[in-house]
Amino acid sequence: MPTPHSPIGIFDSGVGGLSVLQALRHELPHERFVYLADSGNAPYGDARGDAFVQERSLAIAHYLLQQHDIKILVIACNTATAAAVELMRERMPQLPVIGVEPAIKPASFSSQTRHVGVMATRGTVSSQRVARLVSEHGLHTEFHLQACDGLARAIEQSTEQALPAQASATEIRALCRKYTSALGSFGHKTGQMDTLVLGCTHYVFVKDDLRALLGPDIQFLDTGAPVARQTRRMLEQRKLLTPESGDAPQLARAEQIQLMTTGRLSALQAAAQRWLQLPAHCSQAVNVRSESSAATPA
Ligand code: DGL
Repeated sequence: MPTPHSPIGIFDSGVGGLSVLQALRHELPHERFVYLADSGNAPYGDARGDAFVQERSLAIAHYLLQQHDIKILVIACNTATAAAVELMRERMPQLPVIGVEPAIKPASFSSQTRHVGVMATRGTVSSQRVARLVSEHGLHTEFHLQACDGLARAIEQSTEQALPAQASATEIRALCRKYTSALGSFGHKTGQMDTLVLGCTHYVFVKDDLRALLGPDIQFLDTGAPVARQTRRMLEQRKLLTPESGDAPQLARAEQIQLMTTGRLSALQAAAQRWLQLPAHCSQAVNVRSESSAATPA
C-alpha cells in the first residue's frame, strides 16, 4: 500500500520524459521519484501503433507498482497518453494516473495571431485525443499540426555513443529545420504562427535549436510545469504528499531520484548527466517484460 513516503513513478518511451521529471523536481522538491525510460522500445510515436504502446504502458505501470510501490504515475509521454491513459485508468483503478497532452488549450488563449504550430509524433498527431482537443479549442484559433518522424529517435540517439556528437547534432538541426519549414511562416503578422506547441516531451531538449530557427519572439509551450502542478494537487487531495518536515527523511538530491532504462545504460546516464546534472549511479538497466512477446524488449 503506498504511503506519503512512497515514490512518484514516471515513464516515457525514452529520455524525453526527463524534461517532465525536471519540472516535477522543481515543483515537489521533497518527493522521491522513480523514472523508467523504455528506450529499448523507443520511439513509440513513429510507427509502433496503439496496441504496442498500450501493452508497454500497462507493463511499465505494473512494474513500477510492484517493484517500487509508487503512489502516483505520471505518463511523461504524449504518445503513450494519447494511446493508453484511458485504458490504464480502467485497468488499474487503484493507481492515480496523470497524462501529458500537447498544450493546445493554453495556446488557444495566448496566441495573438490565432495561428499555432504543433510539433508532435505521428502517433500523437493522428490520435483521437488531439483531434478532440483541436475541435474543442480550434473555433477561433487555427492549429497547424506537424508529425515529426525521426526527431524523437534522433534525440534518443544523441545520448548514445554510437554516433559522434557532431553528427547527431547536425541531424537534429536538419530535422528541426525540415519540420518548422513544413509548418509554414512564424511571426507576429496576420496569418503567421506566433506560438509553437512542443507536443512531445523529447522536443523540450532541442528548444535551443528550434529557437535559433524561429527567433526570440515566438512563444514555446510545453506541459512540464502544469503537469507538475497537477501532480501536486492530486497528491494533496489524496493526502499523499511527502511531509516537508517532521518524520520525513531528509534525502540528498541524488538519492531522491532513481532512473531505469530498458535500453542502453550509458545513454540514460549521459542524458541524466547532461540535462539533469545527475550522477551515473542514479541509473540502472532493467528488463520490463510485456505479456505478449510482440512487445518484449529486444
Ligand atoms: N516523448 C514521447 C512523447 O511525448 C514520445 C517520443 C517517441 O517515442 O516517439 O510523445
